Amino acid sequence: MLAAYAATANDADPLAALEVGERPEPEVPAGWTTVTVKAASLNHHDVWSLRGVGLRAEQLPMILGCDAAGVDQDGNEVVVHGVIGDPAWSGEETLDPRRSLLSERHPGTFAEQVAVPRANLIPKPAELSFADAACLPTAWLTAYRMLFVRADAKPGSTVLVQGAGGGVSTAAIALGAAAGVRVWATSRSEEKRARALELGADRVFEIGARLPERVDAVLETVGEATWAHSLRSLKPGGALVVSGATSGEAPSAELMRVFFLQLRVLGSTMGSREELARLVQLCATSGVRPVIQETMPLADAARGFRAMVDGDVFGKIVFTMD
Ligand SMILES: NC(=O)c1ccc[n+]([C@@H]2O[C@H](COP(=O)([O-])OP(=O)(O)OC[C@H]3O[C@@H](n4cnc5c(N)ncnc54)[C@H](OP(=O)(O)O)[C@@H]3O)[C@@H](O)[C@H]2O)c1
Repeated sequence: MLAAYAATANDADPLAALEVGERPEPEVPAGWTTVTVKAASLNHHDVWSLRGVGLRAEQLPMILGCDAAGVDQDGNEVVVHGVIGDPAWSGEETLDPRRSLLSERHPGTFAEQVAVPRANLIPKPAELSFADAACLPTAWLTAYRMLFVRADAKPGSTVLVQGAGGGVSTAAIALGAAAGVRVWATSRSEEKRARALELGADRVFEIGARLPERVDAVLETVGEATWAHSLRSLKPGGALVVSGATSGEAPSAELMRVFFLQLRVLGSTMGSREELARLVQLCATSGVRPVIQETMPLADAARGFRAMVDGDVFGKIVFTMD
C-alpha cells in the first residue's frame, strides 16, 4: 500500500528522511481492527519523527501520521483516536506511562490502511467531512484539553495563544472564540495575525509585545521564543499551559516570577477518548470547523512537510488517500 514514512532520521534535514512509497499492510493484533484511511492530517510530531525524536533506529522504517478519519471494516465512517494505551492500564490513557501515539510504536495513518485498537474508533458525524475529522484527534484535541481542561477557561476568561499560525494554535483560537473566551494571539507574521482575527481572536500582537492587561491563562506550544513573554503576560495565580516547544525546550525557568506571582505551569499532552468524542460533537453541532490550509494527495506529502518545516502554515495540511 502507498504510505509516507520515516526511512531514516535526519535532524538537520528532516525532509531527507521522508519517503513516499509502498509499504506492507499493517499487522492486526488481537482486539485491533483496520481502518481504510480517507484523510490524515500533518502534525509537527511527524517532523519531530523525521528528526529522530522518539524513534530508535531499529524501529525504522516507520509509517508516519498520528490522526485519521476513514471507514472501518463494517463500512462505518470513523475518527481514529491516536493515543494507544497499555491494555493493562485502568486509568486515563494520557497518564499511562506506557502509552504511545500512532507512528511511535505502531505504524501511523499516512497510509491506505491503519491498524488500531477497536476501542479507539469514534463515529464520524455526517456533518464533518473526512478532511475536517482528520484534523481533530491530535492538534484539535490537544487544544481542547489545554483550553477547557488544563487552563479551565470559562466564557469571559482571557487567554493568550502564542504562535497563532500552528495547527494547535488555530484550534485554540477557534474553540476559544466559539466558547465565549476572549482570545488574544501572537504571531511572527502580520498576515497570520490578520487571519487570527478573522478566525475569532479578539486582539492580536507581535511576538513579545506588551499586552493591554494581564491574562488568566497562556497556551504555549512555541517554547523558548515566547516563554518569557508568556510568564510576563499572566495575572498572579494565572496558568501557563504548555504542550510543545517548537523553538526550543530550555528557556530560563524564571523561578522568582513563578513563585512570587504564584503562577501555575501545567503540562498538557493530547487528550482522552472521551474528550475527543466531546470535541467531535462540539464541531458537529456548533459549526466550528478546522482551518485547513491545503488538502493534497498522499503522493504529494513532501510538499506538505516542506511547508511545515518552513513555518509556512496557517492551520492544517491534510493528506487524502483516494
Ligand atoms: N503534547 C502534545 O500532545 C502535542 C500535541 C500537538 C502538538 N504538540 C507540539 O506543539 C507544537 C506545535 O504543533 P503544531 O502541530 O501545531 O505545529 P505547527 O502547525 O507547525 O505550528 C508551529 C507553531 O510554532 C510557531 N513558531 C514556530 N517557530 C517559532 C518561533 N521561532 N518563534 C515564534 N513562533 C514560532 C508558529 O507560529 P507563527 O508562525 O504564527 O508565528 C506556529 O504556531 C509542536 O512542537 C508539537 O510537537 C504537542
